[in-house]
Amino acid sequence: MKNFNLEVGEGEFLAVLGHNGSGKSTLARLMNGLLLPDAGTIEVFGAPLTAKNLYDVRRQVGVVFQNPDNQTVSSIVEDDVAFGAENVGLPREEIGERISFALKAVGMEGYRQATISRLSGGQKQRVAIAGVLALKPKVLVLDESTAMLDPRGRREIMDVAARLNREENITVVLITHFMEEALLASRAIVMNRGEIVMEGAPADIFERHEELLTYNLTLPRIGEICKRLQKGGLNVPDTLDVDLLADAIERELSVKRSS
Ligand SMILES: Nc1ncnc2c1ncn2[C@@H]1O[C@H](COP(=O)(O)OP(=O)(O)O)[C@@H](O)[C@H]1O
Ligand SMILES: [Mg+2]
Repeated sequence: MKNFNLEVGEGEFLAVLGHNGSGKSTLARLMNGLLLPDAGTIEVFGAPLTAKNLYDVRRQVGVVFQNPDNQTVSSIVEDDVAFGAENVGLPREEIGERISFALKAVGMEGYRQATISRLSGGQKQRVAIAGVLALKPKVLVLDESTAMLDPRGRREIMDVAARLNREENITVVLITHFMEEALLASRAIVMNRGEIVMEGAPADIFERHEELLTYNLTLPRIGEICKRLQKGGLNVPDTLDVDLLADAIERELSVKRSS
């Protein structure tokens, strides 16, 4: 990391974009003390993160990683979700309540006794998120947690992240290389070689098409299509919304037809 200065507000939904090796996972690990900085400081809710408060910070800042198969510790859903909460020594009935809360929050309340190995990738990731939620974190960091999922699994995780942010006021840091996922965020940063090179509202970042290309990032296909249509003389907006684009094309075509 170089000249790295980032503040994430409470309740914010931040997207972190960047190609492979840009330092996104390093950032995720620094955020909950899995890595300690050689220089500089990390502050979590106003307190500097040190070797002393590491475990408190990890309860407040939960990280879910990429591979759903590397994050389970038990074979049954409820045992897995309980693992972290048991480790911090919560009373038994409190743990039971937290499992219920966490599984409900990720839409997996019907799978309490299920065998994890039989679940889909999206379901496994939701169980991993539930395990983190059982610790009642204030911050959820998703480090490319949708990267190995099919479109449906990705959708499930994005829905959960958006809902936790909205309804539980959990601060979400969403690390992703799927540009369309960043649109859910209120702010996005783009990382390159350990630096923040772009920052702003996701829609504004997508406008800066040429600049994104220099950081090896491309727009989602639909964004590319907008650019092609604009070059071809159609007055359509930059959008990643299929319906919005379809309406704009229809409007343009009917204008052209009637003129
Ligand atoms: N603990 C570490 N110490 C030094 N360099 C590291 C460490 N972990 C990762 N790196 C290097 O830092 C760079 C960023 O890696 P990473 O944070 O995993 O990027 P990303 O998640 O964006 O793909 C890579 O070049 C990687 O080899
Ligand atoms: Mg990474």
